[in-house]
Amino acid sequence: MSISVELAEDTAPTGTGAPWWRQAAVYQVYPRSFADANGDGVGDLRGILSHVDYLADLGIDAIWLSPFYPSALADGGYDVADYRDVDPRLGSLADFDELVTALHAAGIRIVIDIVPNHTSDLHAWFQEALAAGRGSAARDRYIFRDGTGPDGSLPPTDWVSMFGGSAWQRVADGQWYLHHFAVEQPDLNWGNPDVRADFVRTLRFWADRGVDGFRIDVAHMLTKDLREPLPTQAELERLPRDGQHPTIDRDDVHDIYAQWRAVFDSYDPPRTAVAEAWVDAARIPLYARPESLGQAFNFDLLLADFDAAQFRRIITDNLELAARSGSSSTWVLSNHDVVRHATRYGLPRPDRLDDGRPARRHGGDWLLSGGTEPVLDRDAGERRARAASLLLLGLPGSAYLYQGEELGLHEVAEIADGQRQDPTFFRSSGADTGRDGCRVPLPWTGGGASFGFGQGGSHLPQPAWFADRAVAAQEADPESTLALYRRALALRHQLQAAEELTWIETGRADVLRFARPNGWHVVTNFGAEPYPLAGSEPLLASSPAPAGTVPGETTVWLPPYANRLG
Ligand code: GLC
Repeated sequence: MSISVELAEDTAPTGTGAPWWRQAAVYQVYPRSFADANGDGVGDLRGILSHVDYLADLGIDAIWLSPFYPSALADGGYDVADYRDVDPRLGSLADFDELVTALHAAGIRIVIDIVPNHTSDLHAWFQEALAAGRGSAARDRYIFRDGTGPDGSLPPTDWVSMFGGSAWQRVADGQWYLHHFAVEQPDLNWGNPDVRADFVRTLRFWADRGVDGFRIDVAHMLTKDLREPLPTQAELERLPRDGQHPTIDRDDVHDIYAQWRAVFDSYDPPRTAVAEAWVDAARIPLYARPESLGQAFNFDLLLADFDAAQFRRIITDNLELAARSGSSSTWVLSNHDVVRHATRYGLPRPDRLDDGRPARRHGGDWLLSGGTEPVLDRDAGERRARAASLLLLGLPGSAYLYQGEELGLHEVAEIADGQRQDPTFFRSSGADTGRDGCRVPLPWTGGGASFGFGQGGSHLPQPAWFADRAVAAQEADPESTLALYRRALALRHQLQAAEELTWIETGRADVLRFARPNGWHVVTNFGAEPYPLAGSEPLLASSPAPAGTVPGETTVWLPPYANRLG
């Protein structure tokens, strides 16, 4: 192991003296699509290594590395066959160590993905469970049940998997196993002590190698109450999500995280964690508490329209929730599971359910039409995305960014069915095209075999319009989205202040303005009409802003000196 640089806990890039993670800018790297060093069309660890300078110039505080473990890629690497190794197509443990060292030397921390709800069906434990047969100790690490119907040929329940189809799969001897996600992702039995002990080993394995934190996949589903009789799908949907639900967001999941917390805190500096927990807002603080994982994603902005009232409510509510939890808030506009925000904002607003959530995946219909229907307004989408990102980077708390958003990338709709990889597409019989469109390998140069992604091809097809969006093209343009992100991230370090904001009334329903405690102001005009801003010279603007005005669909940052209200 060659970890030469450990970053101390109080080297907070924020200058506030608080632990680094509380207001970090964390950049998600989806490793198979970031950069390909060995030319096989799939991104790898040495590809990331070759772009550490890019990450440093971008000005982020940490990367979150999506799964890089051995995997058959039934779910983009979230089907892990071995939690303590590197997929040989992506490199080796030695490459991983080198990457950690290089990132740390550049002042960048590394957070890795842990996928504890399920393994891959190729994991040694699952193979053992299949061979060992019913009633065996090996099967008890997963969730096996006998079927129903006269010969057990019907699944134990009518539960539906997140990717569509039954959540149960039959094996050769007639038993069934539970998989809340793809068939190749059998759910683990977290009542089994082997499972608990093994994940502690995994966390230590990576923490010992210098990993600074963990992103916990599907953190709200690990524990289950599967006492017979099992409820039906309709009952599951009706049952309250109050901590006692049979499969979702159970209170007893926090016993696991309390144990993990002791592991994290046994390191100096303590390792961090962030929960991916799709739970009711009021229950997010349970995951974000210092005794539990310490931070949790808030996905509200990712589900919202480009709309002042929605943004204001979401920001206010989440700052309150974060304060309740003792953690800092998190903000996300894009990740590897959703249509990129430049595209969402360039499409008509989605219909919404009574609870405010989009009735269907925003952008899903557009993807299904191959990117033709409804018509995407690319310029408006990118303009709004720049405004929303600049607002997000001014908020108190951690900003989670997704690779490619700093290039203003749109979702890629031009993927033929035969080139698709996402299980959502296959399990829904094509009714949902899935998430491949935000996972297309990044364009680094305007030309070349795969726009500089690597010497070979690209495992998902890159569209011709990537040429203009390439890193090289944007580096040469001071008005580019990349230039905006770089300036914003650098300024954010200088301006960062205590985790608070005060709303300042603007007299316009479509204009939001807030002040951070040091007087740094952020003004976003969500409307079309310019908003007059007397006497203030912006530090930064998401679109060209003539003096004294915030143009439509634009965010500006105002410097922290007194008396520039108005
Ligand atoms: C999380 C991941 C997603 C994956 C799923 C199953 O939601 O973000 O990509 O498909 O978990 O592991």
